[in-house]
Amino acid sequence: MDYVQAYKTIVEASKEKNTKEIPLLLSLYDFENKNCLEIGPGILARIAIKLSGFAKSITLVEKDAKVCKHLKQLLKKQKLAHKIKVINANFSKDKLMLKQKFDVVYAAWLPFSVLTQQAFIDQACKLAKDAVIFIVSSPRSDTTKMIEATIDRFEGLKRRKAIRQITRMLKKHGFEVKIKHTTLLLDFKNFNSIYGVFKCFDYGNKKLPAKIEEKLRKFLKARVHCFKDGACYIAAYRKNKKKK
Ligand SMILES: C[S@@+](CC[C@H](N)C(=O)[O-])C[C@H]1O[C@@H](n2cnc3c(N)ncnc32)[C@H](O)[C@@H]1O
Repeated sequence: MDYVQAYKTIVEASKEKNTKEIPLLLSLYDFENKNCLEIGPGILARIAIKLSGFAKSITLVEKDAKVCKHLKQLLKKQKLAHKIKVINANFSKDKLMLKQKFDVVYAAWLPFSVLTQQAFIDQACKLAKDAVIFIVSSPRSDTTKMIEATIDRFEGLKRRKAIRQITRMLKKHGFEVKIKHTTLLLDFKNFNSIYGVFKCFDYGNKKLPAKIEEKLRKFLKARVHCFKDGACYIAAYRKNKKKK
């Protein structure tokens, strides 16, 4: 399975995206009438489209030019282009020449390797008037168990360390930080879907030694309809501006 297909398959399998993932985000910040910046919306801009019912404006920063082109067409088709703007830039590298600041800057499911970059956090904090919110992979999840049982027994530790690092960086910018963990149910159509998704995301579609491959298949076979993905919400507020 290629990356785009894997991404679309996991979004389709995510049965609690509307009942848990988005509501928890909304409970951490009042997006109503706010100017928002989302980093890395991906090919569906699924979170921005949901939040556009509340927000005044949303600016998307996406590094992949092809994804940006697709998003512009999608937003035009959905009659949301007046509310959701797309900028093609790498948030970690490109200094955005934005005159405007945003009430809230948020990002969901970006890799820790991106979120722990000093330049990334510095720019997010500089642009956020009230809050910065990240949804990241939680150590409390079946993904962690799967990786620990196959290729890296320190996966949970690494995730916890990255969350602590991001928290420290946000605090250095003068934010108060709140952390919330939850699990999100993934219900796949069949074994090929769950296998294709995780083989692509977590193993780069690489050939694994036979014993490890067998362990991975056994782990996933038992969880086709009940995979518990873990989400961790890192919500940072400028002091005295909590949940405004
Ligand atoms: C996992 S996907 C999209 C996830 C999406 N936010 C969601 O919750 O469904 C991550 C997206 O972030 C983009 N991305 C990763 N690093 C980025 C960066 N430094 N600046 C801008 N976009 C980035 C990738 O190109 C990709 O489209």
